Amino acid sequence: MSMQVDTVLDRLRADEAGMLQRLKDFLAFESISTDPAYAPRVRACAQWLLEDLRKMGFNGALHETAGHPMVVASHDGPPGYDGPRVLFYGHYDVQPVDPIELWESPPFAAVVVDGPRGKRIVARGAVDDKGQVASFVEACRAWHATHGTLPCAVTMFIEGEEESGSANLDPFIKANKDLLKADVCVVSDTGMWDVDTPAITTMLRGLVYVDITVRGPSRDLHSGLYGGAVPNPINVLASIVAQLHDGDRRVQIPGFYDDVHELPARVAAMWKDLPWDDGEFLGEIGLAKGFGESGRSTLERTWSRPTCDCNGIVGGYTGAGAKTVIASQASVKLSCRLVAGQDPKKILAGIERFFRERLPAGCTMELHEHGCNPAIMVRDDSPYMKAAETGLRRAYGKAPYLIGSGGSIPAVGTIQRELGIDALLVGFGLDDDRVHSPNEKFEVKCFMNGAMSHAAMLAEFGALRR
Ligand code: BES
Ligand code: MN
Ligand code: MN
Repeated sequence: MSMQVDTVLDRLRADEAGMLQRLKDFLAFESISTDPAYAPRVRACAQWLLEDLRKMGFNGALHETAGHPMVVASHDGPPGYDGPRVLFYGHYDVQPVDPIELWESPPFAAVVVDGPRGKRIVARGAVDDKGQVASFVEACRAWHATHGTLPCAVTMFIEGEEESGSANLDPFIKANKDLLKADVCVVSDTGMWDVDTPAITTMLRGLVYVDITVRGPSRDLHSGLYGGAVPNPINVLASIVAQLHDGDRRVQIPGFYDDVHELPARVAAMWKDLPWDDGEFLGEIGLAKGFGESGRSTLERTWSRPTCDCNGIVGGYTGAGAKTVIASQASVKLSCRLVAGQDPKKILAGIERFFRERLPAGCTMELHEHGCNPAIMVRDDSPYMKAAETGLRRAYGKAPYLIGSGGSIPAVGTIQRELGIDALLVGFGLDDDRVHSPNEKFEVKCFMNGAMSHAAMLAEFGALRR
């Protein structure tokens, strides 16, 4: 087995140029899921990916949904194989590119440029998540090229709506449990500890996202003739938003912390041992000091404590110069990151009640939900976890750190719950990859080591009995 893996790793090392070219082709598709205008290009991307998987022995199809198609393709492993099946989940859709003027090269014409850690590939989706999906695909390609097969059975499940909230994912998974049946799920859509230190993420935060519009007078008004005598929706909204946190930055929605528990001592101890540097994390974004819930470290604030944040707020006149007006409405986009134990539906109801109870007479409000997902936790003592650790040790020469992450991946909770399997979050991104921002990048070193890690992990999974 060990020699078999070595040939695959050699093949990957020798094929860097080919791997990068194929990743560039994948990155050229403008697969922006949130904007319906891009639907044909999202589909073309899915089709391209499916064709590519067929070249390495996968059988599959695009599966239609009410939104963008899912790519599902499967490989049965070596002849007569009866070991575990790996479900690899990822997404081929990407975030919008705005603000476009801040990109140093066109977002869908990937370029490889030099950086402080060597070469990096710059494009929308470079790390989130096309580059990471490609690292897995390239591991499969190298196995297929060197040994004519994969070392275990694999089902690829790549969706096209993750960046817009995975709206059609739950019903798809519930309706296709047989198609997606597997023994363990592997996801590459998270980060590493640092460029030389791999990580397995064992906790992701959940997310409740809403937008709320407060309405007052039936039309915009002269602020001199009416101001002081009518409710101003912007003032009302701002006042309610300001009440969301107290002086210790604790969220004031009643019951918000009821189901939040302190970290298990074992995990807390593990995190305390991590060589975390606040100065580095904050310095890279131009800050000298953190800000958040009193008495909590930065790692706790981002990994294991819930939040409530405005993501956008609009109302009234925002053009050049001055306009004396009382706007008839104001809106906020608001999201809460949730941790293990919190029920997203309960938090959603709490947000709505918090706003309604504070609305003055003469105002109405409307709330729209854009996603409601619980936090996820992964057991860290399963044989699959051990196999992943062994594979990563092979590629990096050291054991992965077990970390948390503040981000969310809606599919993971559904996969764990509906398919009854663990998800291993083995990602290769770095904190400074500019995920969702202009000039998103993926270090070539991370891409290559990611592919080698996947190649080695597949062998480890194949060596396990079911
Ligand atoms: N891959 C990210 C989440 C992520 C990034 C997790 C880095 C851990 C480390 C994912 O594509 C994402 O952006 N998720 C969204 C949620 C979604 C509902 C739009 C998020 O976390 O905001
Ligand atoms: Mn992602
Ligand atoms: Mn994302």
